[in-house]
Amino acid sequence: MNFGVIGYGYWGPNVVRNLTALDDSKVLGIADLSEASRKRAAAQYPGIRVTPDAGELIRSAEIDAIAIVSPVWTHYELAKAALENGKHVFVEKPFTSNTAQGEELIELAARKNLRVMVDHTFLFTGAVKKIRQLLDEGVLGKLYYYDSMRVNLGLFQHDVNVLWDLAPHDLSIMDHLIGLNPEAVVATGQRHLNGHEDVAYLTLYFPEKVIAHINVNWLSPVKIRMTLIGGEKKMLLWNDLVADEKLRVYDKGVDVTTQEGIYDTLLHYRSGDMWSPQLSQAEALRSELGYFVDCVTSGKDPFNDGQAGLRVVKMLEAADASLNKKGSLVYL
Ligand SMILES: NC(=O)c1ccc[n+]([C@@H]2O[C@H](COP(=O)([O-])OP(=O)(O)OC[C@H]3O[C@@H](n4cnc5c(N)ncnc54)[C@H](O)[C@@H]3O)[C@@H](O)[C@H]2O)c1
Repeated sequence: MNFGVIGYGYWGPNVVRNLTALDDSKVLGIADLSEASRKRAAAQYPGIRVTPDAGELIRSAEIDAIAIVSPVWTHYELAKAALENGKHVFVEKPFTSNTAQGEELIELAARKNLRVMVDHTFLFTGAVKKIRQLLDEGVLGKLYYYDSMRVNLGLFQHDVNVLWDLAPHDLSIMDHLIGLNPEAVVATGQRHLNGHEDVAYLTLYFPEKVIAHINVNWLSPVKIRMTLIGGEKKMLLWNDLVADEKLRVYDKGVDVTTQEGIYDTLLHYRSGDMWSPQLSQAEALRSELGYFVDCVTSGKDPFNDGQAGLRVVKMLEAADASLNKKGSLVYL
């Protein structure tokens, strides 16, 4: 499958590297508006056409799919043009800047029988695959909460706030793991430097008493990627930055018993073993791009399709609405 890649800034080189490494895909062109980015691309891939004009790739008859790795505000226009020109689309998270754009792209792709995949990279990591397996097999039991901290210094985005930049990771992971749509959100945050919130806290209320909290921050002195997931039977800690024991599953919990004649509820604290499951080491983005090529070839819709991207955009829009009202509850 022949690709054109639009955007060769921070993340674009990872997409190009993985597409060129796969057996079934080839990058025919890279487009970037910045001369410095084009120079880097040309030096790294002398055999690939490099252009400032994304339209050149979008209109090329030799190209089957377009990977859009440019800032969020460009996703809709570029994806729309690609779909109108009969190209399948791999687009970075977050899918679009608002729900209306996402809905339009989904409808256009369906009408043209083209595939759209939104890059929710974390869904292809060994850790998320294992957590999903533990949930599916009932090892964790009924889910109580998802609590995540995703903080670091920068990289400041110019077009979106820290929620739109970092929270899509957790929102897509939650969407995949919890499998329920949130009912309401509360978001608070503050702008310190470039007019966009650089510190934010997001709480999501799901049905069945599942609650999620996400702390995202571009002004943290240290990088932290930690998620706690609490279930009725087991709880787990996922520390994405450590090489060993990224995932620790704890046989800890609280059992509730009430006995006849005893008025109060009895709480028994359970503290058993901890174990760390083996995780696949495969690079998530490579697995994901391979899956995209498979989906296009076989004509099936990926699970991280436009609809999955749209669910995340809806949560982000609701979060912005809450943020603008200093943390009022916003129903979805
Ligand atoms: N999946 C992930 O883990 C992950 C990680 C980082 C970034 N991203 C996403 O990737 C996208 C890009 O982020 P980044 O950090 O690489 O940004 P960046 O600013 O470093 O790079 C974007 C590049 O796109 C180019 N560009 C902008 N408009 C263009 C146009 N119309 N035509 C051609 N080139 C254009 C810019 O010149 C720039 O070089 C964002 O949507 C971001 O959310 C995803």
